[in-house]
Amino acid sequence: MVKLAGALTLEAPKAPQRKRKSVVIGYKTARGTMFQGTIEAFLQSPRAAAYAGKVQLIFTSPPFPLNRSKAYGNKQGEEFSKWLADLAPDLKKLLTPTGSIVMEMGNAWEPGRPVMSVLSLESLLQFLKKGDLQLAQQFICYNPARLPSPAQWVNVKRIRLKDAYTHVWWMAATDHPYADNRKVLTPYSKSMLHLLETGKYNSGKRPSEHHIGKTSFLTKNDGAIPANVLTITNTGTSDVYQKYCREHGIKPHPARMPIALPEFFVKLLTKDGDLVMDPFAGSNTTGAIAQQLKRKWIAVEAEKGYVESSRSRFMRRKAKSDDLKRTAKRSPDGRRGSIHT
Ligand SMILES: C[S@@+](CC[C@H](N)C(=O)[O-])C[C@H]1O[C@@H](n2cnc3c(N)ncnc32)[C@H](O)[C@@H]1O
Repeated sequence: MVKLAGALTLEAPKAPQRKRKSVVIGYKTARGTMFQGTIEAFLQSPRAAAYAGKVQLIFTSPPFPLNRSKAYGNKQGEEFSKWLADLAPDLKKLLTPTGSIVMEMGNAWEPGRPVMSVLSLESLLQFLKKGDLQLAQQFICYNPARLPSPAQWVNVKRIRLKDAYTHVWWMAATDHPYADNRKVLTPYSKSMLHLLETGKYNSGKRPSEHHIGKTSFLTKNDGAIPANVLTITNTGTSDVYQKYCREHGIKPHPARMPIALPEFFVKLLTKDGDLVMDPFAGSNTTGAIAQQLKRKWIAVEAEKGYVESSRSRFMRRKAKSDDLKRTAKRSPDGRRGSIHT
């Protein structure tokens, strides 16, 4: 049994509705479909066959074995790694020949001990192996605003440091999945802008043995190529989903990703019109950003309550793009609402 760092503050929703064996459509937009059911049931259904070879990116944050919360009926330890790895071959079948699978997983600690569990790494490795996938690149998602945890070892005993990142593994069936880092450029730093302006920097041989040419750094592109350490703070309390949950007395999904995380990978690994999938969709953060970025999407989530509240991500809000101008549909609470499709 392991404990996800920082997870103790998350409360499970009361009596979540249990998973059903069949898969049904929770809701649809013009670009996407949310399925309600387990991913196992989805993968065995004719629906999966219809999507075989069509998904450009599977982006997901799977349920993780927690030692307290049973919100997702999480499996424990090796049972979890095996369960996750067994999904890999069937998920891979959904990918296009240049498609990618990106999986986010937090660190875990042995309960009651100042010792990290290697379960997340083992699970990712087993998934990679069972799916016969390549590790295109490993990323770290760093959250500088993360509360100190595990509290017992960080705050009380002061013998460990704040656990503030998650693992993000980018996997693919090929060495050359589609990717374009020009789609995720970041603004140049002040020093780089200065360098570009003045044209002055130390060229020649560096202690690292790299040889830096006299003009190597002088080409002004549209921004800097980001590193594989993504600094992303958690979702605020003001997004449309949180607001909807607050207004309707619904407990928000306890393990939502910051939208900037799937956004980065959707931009890096897909083009307009490509199909993005999240097999453990939760509040459907992935579908929401895919839709905003004009990608198609499918999502699968086992819990009915999460499926229902995730609809709010697609309701009409102040139009930011032409995506937001579409049909009025019934909202989860039965009132009329607009779903941007
Ligand atoms: C870590 S959460 C994903 C949160 C999501 N990324 C978000 O931003 O809201 C994992 C989700 O997987 C769902 N889940 C657990 N087992 C599942 C299964 N077998 N099939 C489909 N969904 C499952 C859980 O209900 C939970 O919502």
